[in-house]
Formats: sequence, C-alpha cells, structure tokens
Amino acid sequence: MKGILLAGGSGTRLQPLTLAMSKQLLPVYDKPMIYYPLATLMLAGVHDILIISTPDSLPDIQRLFGDGSHLGLSIGYRAQPEPRGIAEAYLLGAAHVAGQPSALILGDNFFHGSGFRKLLLRGWESLDGCTLFSYPVTDPERYAVGELDAHGNLVSIEEKPVRPLSSNAITGLYFYGSDVVDIARELHPSARGELEITDINRIYLKDGRAKVMELGRGFTWIDAGTQLSLLEASEYVRIMESRQGVRVACIEEIALRMGLIDADSCYRLGAEMANSEYGRYVMSIAGSIA
Ligand code: DAU
Repeated sequence: MKGILLAGGSGTRLQPLTLAMSKQLLPVYDKPMIYYPLATLMLAGVHDILIISTPDSLPDIQRLFGDGSHLGLSIGYRAQPEPRGIAEAYLLGAAHVAGQPSALILGDNFFHGSGFRKLLLRGWESLDGCTLFSYPVTDPERYAVGELDAHGNLVSIEEKPVRPLSSNAITGLYFYGSDVVDIARELHPSARGELEITDINRIYLKDGRAKVMELGRGFTWIDAGTQLSLLEASEYVRIMESRQGVRVACIEEIALRMGLIDADSCYRLGAEMANSEYGRYVMSIAGSIA
C-alpha cells in the first residue's frame, strides 16, 4: 500500500499563526501537527509515503522527517505550487502510487481511539473502490457529509452542504483502489476552482464501489484547521498523555511496536531529544519493549 500525506494549503483560517509557518508544523500539544496523520498512516500499515506541501513549507517538513529511514519508512516529497484541491494529490502523486492501492490523509486530521488499527486493517480488507471513514459531528456543514441507509451503506455524499442530510462528516482519511489516479485525471475544477476529493468519492459511489466505516462513540476525530479545533486537539492530547502516561502519536514508539525499527534504534532516537520529556519517553519505551 502506498500513502500520500497532503500538507499544503495556505492556512488562511489560522493567520497570523501561519503567516511564517506551515499549519501542519504548528504544535498540537507536544509535537508538530503532522505527526498525527503520519502516525495514522503507520497504524494503517503504510510505509511508503509521499508528503505533498507548498514549495515554502516542504524544506521544513523534509528537515523533520528526512527520508524516513530512521523510522523504517520511505518518505518522499513533492511540491504543490498552488492549492488546486485535495484531489490534485493523485495527479502529483501518480508516479508514487504506481497503480497500487493507496491511502490519502490530510495533514490537519487527528484520529485517536482504541481499536483504530484493527478498524484500519478491516478498511483495507474490504477495499474495492474506496473506503471512507465517517464521524458524527454537531457542525456537519463544515465537511463533506455522507448519508447512510439503515444498513450503514453510503447513499449520498455532498461537500459542505448548506442543509446537511445527516451529521456524518466524511473525515480526511481515504483508502482507494488502484484506479484512483485514472479517476482523478477525469476531474474538472469545481465552482470554487478546486479538484474536489468528494467528486472522486462520488464517482466510486455511483459505481457502487464506495464504502464507509463509521468511527463511533469512544473515538476522537478533529480537523485541527481552526483556532478552536487546534486548541481542542492540544487539550485532548494533554489530557490523554497526563492521565495515562502514554504518548499519543509517538511515531518512534509506533515504529518500534510495528517492528519497523529495533529497540536500540528507538533508544537512539529518544536520546537525541533527551532534554525533552518526549525524548525521555521514547528512551523509556525502547527499554520497556526490548
Ligand atoms: O477534514 C475533513 C474535510 O477536509 C472533508 O470532510 C472535506 O470533504 C474536505 O474537502 C476537507 O475539507 P476542508 O475544508 O478541511 O478542506 P481544506 O481546503 O481546508 O483542505 C484540507 C487540508 O488539505 C488542509 O490542511 C490544506 C490541505 N490542502 C488543501 C487543498 C485544497 C492542500 O494541501 N492542498 C490543497 O490544494
């Protein structure tokens, strides 16, 4: 499986925070925002990842993750000169995807909940055309909204509807079959001038090949693209980490637990940040799992 992490956009909703810095590098409590979607891809078993961002932000992100080999990953980079829409990820990432099934995640999407890894694996197993992940929210008009029938089948999907037909937001995590690049090539820009990911999903839906997996109660999904949701994500991580003593989206820990790196490598990664609590946590995890 291939992965694309889309971390571009102009971040205007977060200005002035984003005037000199990429949104996806802003802190969500103790780590940059982009750690969280990267952790989600890792949990989904995706190790070959293309990060797409603006020409300005790409060097900073590259400094953060390099080629990914220290985490047992392969990470490549591609610039998106203008924010021409989420679906453009599949035009820019066509060579990377290379006709394989793929996952796309948006760089401001935060997922956390028990059983997530199992759910992601089920998402791959049942993948035919596309697998989407929905989450009930109180403000569905801010997102793509999916309407489900009594059996949980997707009936319709609409981008930011004025009158939403349900409270099920379609989150920014998408699994696609090998034909997604061909579908992306057929798209035309929407009224707002973007290649819409929802248009790709609607094509699969029309074809009877779109599934939705519901993230229910006990699960947290946050699109951290506004001041309030950014703060909420930070608060959530702080509470989880201080109550349980575990770290959310610690990519070194995930790499170790998934067998992508060994305990010695994990310890060394922690030791490089030994002045921080995060670094010491990584060192302690290496010791406890070794
Ligand atoms: O978070 C889930 C929602 O994300 C979905 O429910 C919507 O269907 C989807 O359109 C998207 O809605 P947003 O309003 O959050 O889209 P936004 O334009 O803010 O873009 C989402 C992220 O993708 C953002 O972090 C910036 C990045 N992006 C966006 C565009 C349009 C890019 O990197 N390049 C782009 O061209």
